Amino acid sequence: MDIQSKTIIITGASSGLGAAVSRTLVKADAGYVYGLARSKDKLNALQTELGNTFIPVVLDVSDLNLIRKWYNSTFSESHSPDILINNAGTGGFAPIDVMQADEWIGMLDTNLKGMYYMTSAAVPLMKAKTGSKHIINIGSIMGTTTRGEASAYSASKYAVNGFSESLFKELRGFDIKVTCVNPGSIETDFFVNSGIQPSTHMLHPDEVADTILYILKTPDNVLIDEIKIRPLKP
Ligand SMILES: NC(=O)c1ccc[n+]([C@@H]2O[C@H](COP(=O)([O-])OP(=O)(O)OC[C@H]3O[C@@H](n4cnc5c(N)ncnc54)[C@H](OP(=O)(O)O)[C@@H]3O)[C@@H](O)[C@H]2O)c1
Repeated sequence: MDIQSKTIIITGASSGLGAAVSRTLVKADAGYVYGLARSKDKLNALQTELGNTFIPVVLDVSDLNLIRKWYNSTFSESHSPDILINNAGTGGFAPIDVMQADEWIGMLDTNLKGMYYMTSAAVPLMKAKTGSKHIINIGSIMGTTTRGEASAYSASKYAVNGFSESLFKELRGFDIKVTCVNPGSIETDFFVNSGIQPSTHMLHPDEVADTILYILKTPDNVLIDEIKIRPLKP
């Protein structure tokens, strides 16, 4: 796809990978990049940096009603998304009998249900649109293999892989590509927020953002349906 002048939605745009992908897409001359997250100040700072083609949207992806309202008030047949990047995510790691139920369930609310809410609202608009469209879901290596004390995070990311594969088979006939990107450790706030030890050789968010741009720019008949990207040294 030629992403110039395309309308793009990206969740979790206020920091880390989402902010890096937003920068990469704006620099690649995307038409509009709607960046969603809960942190208004961080989104506004990113708009100051990137200019008015980055549109900050303060939204919690686990709130179905707010998402539906936002889609209805923002998009129409003449202005609808070409690309949806489901990136918002949260991680927490602890034994199952130590982690509080709210945190366990909250990870599924954001990482999985939020992805479903965003996608189910975007798909009818995408189906009605001619040309190639693309949904990119950010999974994780922890959605392909796992470790102890990661039951909620891994459950959500394995589910993201299953969700993505089913959707790729369902939507290919509508010219909608679906890709699941499964990164290893990336140098973002994720590690600060999740409380696990970062490693010393992590991927830089810009490196993963460049991979996502490459996936988006593949010719219309080429689909990368899933990809793992890891730091060379763990
Ligand atoms: N870092 C890694 O090593 C790594 C590895 C594999 C996969 N991933 C995945 O990569 C994605 C991005 O994570 P990151 O590493 O960039 O971490 P990050 O810096 O913590 O960014 C997470 C983003 O998600 C947003 N977010 C969280 N909950 C949200 C909600 N309920 N509604 C809307 N936005 C929400 C956050 O914004 P607000 O707090 O402002 O809402 C933030 O912009 C996640 O899906 C993560 O699971 C990360």
